Amino acid sequence: MLNKKVEKALSLQVNAELYSSYLYLSMSADLDSKSLPGFAHWMKIQAQEELYHAIKIYDYVLERGGSVTLDTIEKPQTSWKDPLAIFKAAYKHETKVTGMINKLVDLAIKEKDHATNNFLQWFVEEQVEEEASADEIVQQLALVKGGSGLFMLDKEMGARAPLFTFPAPGD
Ligand code: FEO
Repeated sequence: MLNKKVEKALSLQVNAELYSSYLYLSMSADLDSKSLPGFAHWMKIQAQEELYHAIKIYDYVLERGGSVTLDTIEKPQTSWKDPLAIFKAAYKHETKVTGMINKLVDLAIKEKDHATNNFLQWFVEEQVEEEASADEIVQQLALVKGGSGLFMLDKEMGARAPLFTFPAPGD
């Protein structure tokens, strides 16, 4: 059985992961409007990943006999100056999420909830990867500074494999 404090904190994290998904989908839409389909595709897959994170926590709470309370999802920003500003914002957002995960681990330790601490270690590792991938793209964008380099990078970003696929519109 989940301790109520841990249960509530995990529900809040479900909301934070859903917000991350919403934010990245908003970034994807903005990248698409900036005629960067590869970057938009990469960011849409990032939105899928965040949805997966939310469901992973949701399922864990239910598995432990707890209940999830879903709350309002904050409205995300809808436009940014350029792709560099978008990926800088994504990186900054990931560092914020890392802080949230660390606080959850602190709470699980404080409440002697070893199972939740163990569960959260997957997220601790995931955050290292999430920060690194956003930062790598920030560095690449800073290097190419637009032009044909940006076009090449956009092509590369378009090759990211999706987590899951939807039927095409009309299918
Ligand atoms: Fe769910 Fe990108 O952290």
